[in-house]
Amino acid sequence: MKCRVASKNDQQYFVDNYLKHYGDVQELAEKYAIACIEVHRSLMFYNDHETIGAITWSIKEGISSGLVEIFQMFIHSEKNRGKGYGSLMLKYCVEDIENYYKKLNYPLRRAFIVIDQENLAGRNVYRKHGFNLLVEVKNHLKTGHKSFVYSKDYF
Ligand SMILES: CC(C)(COP(=O)(O)OP(=O)(O)OC[C@H]1O[C@@H](n2cnc3c(N)ncnc32)[C@H](O)[C@@H]1OP(=O)(O)O)[C@@H](O)C(=O)NCCC(=O)NCCS
Repeated sequence: MKCRVASKNDQQYFVDNYLKHYGDVQELAEKYAIACIEVHRSLMFYNDHETIGAITWSIKEGISSGLVEIFQMFIHSEKNRGKGYGSLMLKYCVEDIENYYKKLNYPLRRAFIVIDQENLAGRNVYRKHGFNLLVEVKNHLKTGHKSFVYSKDYF
């Protein structure tokens, strides 16, 4: 599996992802896609035949806070899940974050992810890469729903 930073050519990928998972308004999907590429940092994972997935991360509260949120790690095709790709994607993502901060000479304090309680695959991937449960968020997306915040701390 290969990895590259997302560019304008990947816009349709993020539009499709938005329309599939978050809502059906084309204009919002396009704005979201542009943000994933131009505001946040997205990594694309692919092989010779297809795009396997993507992962996005974002600097929170300005780079000097050292705080990063990772979100929307997706492997699209069911056939590509459970084969270790998710684990590899997160490894590349963490390296990308660490290198980014090192290059700009800012200390990285914490990378975090908000993840649904029922998302066992996702939670396992993060736990495996040194992310620990930071907090439980009750009634997060709707009443009765629970999310977890996992973080990898550098302090
Ligand atoms: C979450 C996701 C990225 C995981 O990627 P993946 O390639 O399927 O996961 P991996 O094969 O790398 O597995 C990583 C670990 O999770 C475990 N795992 C994988 N699928 C699992 C499942 N369905 N239930 C429980 N554990 C699972 C694996 O056993 C592995 O742990 P191990 O190495 O100790 O055995 C992928 O399933 C996906 O895209 N899901 C839909 C989107 C999503 O939920 N994203 C995460 C929210 S940000």
